[in-house]
Amino acid sequence: MNPDLEKLQPYPFEKLNALKADSNPLVEGHIALSIGEPKHDAPRFVLDSITNNLGKINRYPLTKGIAELRLAIRDWLIRRFKLTDTLDAEQHILPVNGTREALFSFAHCVIDDKNDSLILMPNPFYQIYEGAAFLSGATPYFYNTVKENNYLPDFDAIDEKIWKRCQIIYICTPGNPTGSVISKQQLARLIELAQEYDFIIASDECYSEIYFDEQNPPTGLLEAAQATGNTDFKNCIIFHSLSKRSNLPGMRSGFVAGDAELIKAYLKYRTYHGSAMPPVHQLASIEAWNDETHVQNNRALYVEKFDAVINILDSVIKVKSPDAGFYLWLNTPVDDEIFAKDLFAQQNVTVLPGSYLSRESDGINPGKDHIRMALVAPLDECITAANRIKQYIQSLNL
Ligand SMILES: Cc1ncc(COP(=O)(O)O)c(C=O)c1O
Repeated sequence: MNPDLEKLQPYPFEKLNALKADSNPLVEGHIALSIGEPKHDAPRFVLDSITNNLGKINRYPLTKGIAELRLAIRDWLIRRFKLTDTLDAEQHILPVNGTREALFSFAHCVIDDKNDSLILMPNPFYQIYEGAAFLSGATPYFYNTVKENNYLPDFDAIDEKIWKRCQIIYICTPGNPTGSVISKQQLARLIELAQEYDFIIASDECYSEIYFDEQNPPTGLLEAAQATGNTDFKNCIIFHSLSKRSNLPGMRSGFVAGDAELIKAYLKYRTYHGSAMPPVHQLASIEAWNDETHVQNNRALYVEKFDAVINILDSVIKVKSPDAGFYLWLNTPVDDEIFAKDLFAQQNVTVLPGSYLSRESDGINPGKDHIRMALVAPLDECITAANRIKQYIQSLNL
């Protein structure tokens, strides 16, 4: 057996189930704010496309995807991130089956010098990055994103010795769980560092389409690369998905885009990995990337929920509105595990303790004393959950 498998931590939800195991909630009607699974309706026209194209399942798909899909993604990227037409559907874009598998397998494709290489990742973080580091033979290095810095990374605080060993840095913008968006200036600084120390920036942007101000969408890594004159996106790769944007988590459709050399190597890797997107999903994905109306409507539902929930909680606790994404990252007045356990026992609401999403690094655990709430349930459920959380916080008599 691969000994590195032993290094993989239980998934946060396993820890959560154990935490809740011997509680019997006092209130009827469980509300889960713990899992980040979109729950709004999938677009009808995408479902119709799937139905209409079912017959195409009798063919093997190309790993590279059909040209029409890569073109639709290219056009979407150009529209969304104001890229120029140097972005090329042949060289810069590859469909993947959701960002999770791609974030994981990408590390296996690019890591060399196995004994000394580091993969940098935010802390708290999406656990797949850590698994990718362990199973590619690299060592994870956690850079903290703390309240004092608006839950953003401070790239200049990372030591030169670390940069020298860094082969990949994962960034997550908008962040899960923090909701913080890395600015174009910070991205530009990171690109400068990537050129100086020759590492790859892997930017997980799967929440980029869930934001609150229609005039101010989160910036992306390729947009920042273009602004710095890095128009061939050297050392930069982005990960996008229809899961959150279009409420299609079950379709497993996403893409990676960026540095042509990395895309070429990753395509080679993927042909062996055998992870081509099914033809029906490719066709349905074209429809989804070509439409923005359903994405705007989706955002409007989140705006409504965030306004309502923050409004309720604000009277009992300081709530930081996220820059984007669908999570509230709440600094708790008591230990996060106690908060989550007692909230479940007293109010039948499940939230995720922040320390399940983080590790100790640099002497602190930045997920401690935080909980993550995913506002994915319908508005009325989110409002009920917020009122119950308010009651629980009031019961703490702080
Ligand atoms: C930060 C982050 N990245 C990636 C993913 C994977 O999403 P998908 O594989 O559906 O694109 C998730 C899912 O919750 C996530 O939270």
